[in-house]
Amino acid sequence: KAIKPIPGPPGLPIVGNIFDMDFVTPLKTIEGFADQYGEIYKIKLGGREHLVLSSYELVHEACDEKRFAKQVAAGLEQVRNGVGDGLFTAYTGEENWGLAHRVLIPAFGPLTIRGMFDEMADLANQLALKWARLPSTTPLDPSDDFTRLTLDTITLCAMGGRFNSFYTENQHPFVDAMVNFLIESGNRGRRLPAMNRIPTAASEAYFKDINFMKQVAMDLLNDRKEHPTDKKDLLNAMIHGKDPQTGKGLTDELIVNNMITFLIAGHETTSGTLSFTMYNLLKNPETYKRLQEEIDRVVGRDPVNLDHLSKLPYTNAVLRETLRLSSPIPLINVRPHPFDNHEDPILLGGQYKVEPDQSMILLIKKMHLDPKVYGADANEFKPERMLDEPFNQLPPDSWKPFGNGMRACIGRPFAWQEMLLVMAVIFQNFDFYMADTNYQLAIKQNLTIKPKDFHIKARLRHGLT
Ligand code: HEM
Repeated sequence: KAIKPIPGPPGLPIVGNIFDMDFVTPLKTIEGFADQYGEIYKIKLGGREHLVLSSYELVHEACDEKRFAKQVAAGLEQVRNGVGDGLFTAYTGEENWGLAHRVLIPAFGPLTIRGMFDEMADLANQLALKWARLPSTTPLDPSDDFTRLTLDTITLCAMGGRFNSFYTENQHPFVDAMVNFLIESGNRGRRLPAMNRIPTAASEAYFKDINFMKQVAMDLLNDRKEHPTDKKDLLNAMIHGKDPQTGKGLTDELIVNNMITFLIAGHETTSGTLSFTMYNLLKNPETYKRLQEEIDRVVGRDPVNLDHLSKLPYTNAVLRETLRLSSPIPLINVRPHPFDNHEDPILLGGQYKVEPDQSMILLIKKMHLDPKVYGADANEFKPERMLDEPFNQLPPDSWKPFGNGMRACIGRPFAWQEMLLVMAVIFQNFDFYMADTNYQLAIKQNLTIKPKDFHIKARLRHGLT
């Protein structure tokens, strides 16, 4: 094939495309250009050119870990200001990634996660109790309550801390610090590096937020050291674990980096998925009905237990379909593998030339709509296509909400158990309604995305189970 030029929005010298960006929801601009320029385009941000890939074929090719590897760039590189070489933000090949990964893999295994069920259920029941006590005419913000739930769940199950978010009017101050930290990290990632070195009120607040998050994590770590337990959780795994390969343990600094990483990565994504799931079900009443019927049939009025969770194929499909249409992490970043000798030139699709240090954005959320994989109705919410059989037959890399290869999400089994449990508890106990039947989906973005200004009403179906 002949080499083809890669199209893209023209932009300005030096600053590139920064003024094209929607500052509140940059994803809108990134997706809009994909509609305009097609499956691959180039954009210049933060002093650097990025290729944006959104068709199944190109994303699949870029998921080949022999040729390409995760890149920590732009906003994610800035997140390193707070969490350094924690798992999510570690550079490809960075020693502490391998160390923490090997120590933590067993701690995220199915047995350990099953052992966390009772604590997860405690918090899911706190959510149900809160909604049961509200008048059923009061509009409530599901994203806000799901965030309380998922933050409390990861803190309790992973490190034995109780934020008690359901007992306070305002969210835990960690949430404010974290949200502001992520927004500012994103802003810094789009600016030229020199601009970030100028001291401003924003940068002062940014480093204050970072110190606060470190303090919260340090307090939890010290508390555990002063009051040791034999709990099988992530914190104990990090304090006591030794790398089978090198025999090394994790330093306190690396533990704190990973604790904050889990608090951030472990709750925004899960709460976003639950919120989008609620939206999709309410917009598609047939699917709502089928899901609630399944939960009534399998769980009935009993307290939800682990056994129930393995018998909810439709609920699984609803979560998968939500993650396809509304991946809370809508894009991931890769580059040609830094440690390999590449073919010269490096080509994508046999026709697009890629530089050896090229930044590539895989626009997963858009790839999930590729009609070649998902058909002409790819934009519609149809959980049936995600029941086990069609799901297991999907082509490789065509459903990627948890990222790619060895840098894929380590918390997936944790998130899945938590989400199934919450769905079972809330649909067993409540009927839900849109607070505003004319609501049109809008997106709120920081590191992840979630529905904006979305409100529902919850009506208790019978006494709380
Ligand atoms: C990585 C999605 C829940 C911890 C990732 C990545 C994605 C993702 C897309 C790859 C990011 C990249 O390539 O840059 C999700 C979704 C979740 C979820 C959709 C929920 C529905 C969780 C939970 C935890 C967690 C509950 C922790 C308990 C992590 C960590 C990484 C990661 C530590 C980095 C892994 C590594 O590079 O070694 N996640 N995640 N995630 N996630 Fe999740």
